[in-house]
Amino acid sequence: MRILSGIQPSGEPHLGNYFAAMRQHVAYQERHEAIYFLADYHSMTSLRDPAERRRFTHELAIDYLACGLDPERAILYRQSDLPEVCELAWLLTTVTPMGLLERAHSYKDKIAAGVPIDHGLFAYPVLMAADILIYNPDRVPVGQDQKQHLEMTRDMAQRFNHIYGREVFKLPEPDILEDVAVVPGTDGRKMSKSYGNTIQMFAPQKQVKKAVMGIVTDSTPVEDPKDTSIALFQLWALFADEAERKAFFTRAEAGGVGYGEVKKDLLKRLLEFFGPIRERRAELVSDPDRVEEILHAGAARARKLARPVLEAARDAAGLGPPL
Ligand code: TRP
Repeated sequence: MRILSGIQPSGEPHLGNYFAAMRQHVAYQERHEAIYFLADYHSMTSLRDPAERRRFTHELAIDYLACGLDPERAILYRQSDLPEVCELAWLLTTVTPMGLLERAHSYKDKIAAGVPIDHGLFAYPVLMAADILIYNPDRVPVGQDQKQHLEMTRDMAQRFNHIYGREVFKLPEPDILEDVAVVPGTDGRKMSKSYGNTIQMFAPQKQVKKAVMGIVTDSTPVEDPKDTSIALFQLWALFADEAERKAFFTRAEAGGVGYGEVKKDLLKRLLEFFGPIRERRAELVSDPDRVEEILHAGAARARKLARPVLEAARDAAGLGPPL
């Protein structure tokens, strides 16, 4: 089975990114033909600083490699190393009804928030469809928030196939990563960069410690029963197995467990868990040429898969000399 997903370079990853996506992405390489790209073209709809884009994109590659993505098995490449995707986006744009794009939540949310919108943001779902359809993947693992984009992708594929009378594109199935851990942020809301409540596992240790110690708790005295559904305990549970979790939660719910103790143990577990990953990351940071080589090789492998699909789409649409 071929799976594909795109990852936005948006700066330092946090526990939410890891437990809700990165971990699953890396695991897929064991069972599937996995293709991942660093969505730097997409980042242009929200990020305007070129140096930051380069840095975020390079660091995102490092993060995935450090987390165990094996470039011998999975394909990892930078989206803009494959500009073919922009050509396919144009082909798809010409079969995409305005109404379809106007219904996109991502676009409607921005309108509602009164944010000025450029055409890139409006057309974002078309580029995303091109990213996907250019590989004819079976499945696209994404978060719940991307579900509508996948439905739109299927619509565009269907319309193109119908208009040009050929089954150029396969309709990809969404693979919604919903049975994954919901990771609360330090303030109890969902962990998200935009809420400023993240724990960034690759930050300097002092900063990680500060974030963990800053997890919001109430003033329940040590001896009182604790509510284990709060962020602190849920974050702790990410680093414990089921038996440990049960035993510890039972103890905490009976009273006698202080928040300070839980925070210290969480920090210890977190640093142990990410220790080897942080080390691999440091090695990759000191070897940017190696990271570039990996991305370069990834783009070459991706191109081999993408070219024939693009050629088929061009041919179906009557572009260029006949195949
Ligand atoms: N829109 C996705 C996100 O914000 C990123 C993305 C871009 C993507 N192209 C994709 C995901 C293609 C899956 C497939 O998370």
